[in-house]
Amino acid sequence: MPPRGRGSSPPVVVSVGGSVFLSGEDDAKYLQELSDLLVRVGRSTPLVVTVGGGRTARAYIRLGRALGLTDVELDELGIDVTRIHARLLAGRIGLPTPSHPPASVREAVEAVRHASPVVLGGTEPGHTTDAVAALIAVRLRAARVVNATDVDGVYDADPRTTPGARRWERSSWPAFLRIVGATTSDAPGQRFPFDRLGAEALARAGIPLAVVAGRDLGNLEAAIGGRPFVGTLVSGQDGGPT
Ligand code: UTP
Repeated sequence: MPPRGRGSSPPVVVSVGGSVFLSGEDDAKYLQELSDLLVRVGRSTPLVVTVGGGRTARAYIRLGRALGLTDVELDELGIDVTRIHARLLAGRIGLPTPSHPPASVREAVEAVRHASPVVLGGTEPGHTTDAVAALIAVRLRAARVVNATDVDGVYDADPRTTPGARRWERSSWPAFLRIVGATTSDAPGQRFPFDRLGAEALARAGIPLAVVAGRDLGNLEAAIGGRPFVGTLVSGQDGGPT
């Protein structure tokens, strides 16, 4: 981690969803611009970035399920895909980012003492890269976690399938946990606003979560920097929608 002298920023953790990482539209251009952003911000802010597996992970998980693999084996397939994505991003960024993604929360926390940004994928079966981001944030006492996703915030219903769904600009942790708890399952390859385990860890630690559209890079940079952004800010105990 860069020296934490006067004027240096507290760490920030970014979780880049796999569907944002590889959307099928101009992916190389997006990943180049994302890398440039992470390098620029990572110079002054100790930055850890987790990368998801998206539809590639889900395709392998679907195939593995059809072949009768166990849930743990399916999770391990997903982890391997996220680690390939992390390698892609780390390779584009170059030094000092480790090209071999840290394999655990502990390794990532150690790596960011010497290098920023640090990029990694999944770690253990049973959760997603959102949870990895959250657990690292708790260990680093991060200022915030930014979830760079394929939706521009948290909605009261799925905006891709429900016309008129409303975006929350802010949410308390209790209100957010109610949504996450109502919509999630721990089965491999599931989709939800933010991993339940990760959300619970952040809520307990009182670390804010910003949910933003990951392809809107100006907005993503604002959220990482703690400036006003378009999306949803989850923090605090009350005052949000219930
Ligand atoms: P993702 O983090 O990509 O989950 O991990 P996701 O919900 O599909 O997120 P998006 O779509 O990329 O945004 C893919 C799968 O890999 C396994 C889980 O099965 C997860 O659903 N995984 C990932 C783990 O078991 N442990 C990890 O630490 C990370």
